[in-house]
Amino acid sequence: MNIDICKVIELPKIADPRGNLTFVEGGDHIPFDIQRVYYLYDVPGGAERGGHAHKALQQLIIAMSGSFDVVLDDGKDKKRIHLNRSYNGLYVCPMIWRELDNFSSGSVCMVLASNKYAEDDYYRDYAQFMRARWQV
Ligand code: TYD
Repeated sequence: MNIDICKVIELPKIADPRGNLTFVEGGDHIPFDIQRVYYLYDVPGGAERGGHAHKALQQLIIAMSGSFDVVLDDGKDKKRIHLNRSYNGLYVCPMIWRELDNFSSGSVCMVLASNKYAEDDYYRDYAQFMRARWQV
């Protein structure tokens, strides 16, 4: 489960002069069934979210409105991805440390998740994550 598995997926877009439409079907456009949806909004300027990894959870992160950056870190490699399109989703596999920052004013970050919320699926301590990730 390294960082190369985490990619921006281009979702279907039905372009229409009345307004565009995008849809996501679990197990089809993304490699998991959707068990939960949550979203971040009213994020103050300069705020950072995330700062954790998940043991088993898979996620698709979408900038529904505005833009923000996601920094992914598998303990060896890091990459910063700018999301600013409602028809793009960043797939994040398990065991990846992530941080979200650079939120534009009024942005909305929607996350589709493969499981319901479970605190015991989180690594919130980076050193603990690194030990588990690389078994050191
Ligand atoms: P957290 O996952 O740390 O937020 P983020 O990664 O977006 O910065 O969650 C923040 C708080 O919200 C934490 O107390 C757990 C709670 N929470 C839920 O109760 N259900 C959920 O689905 C999520 C994502 C978080």
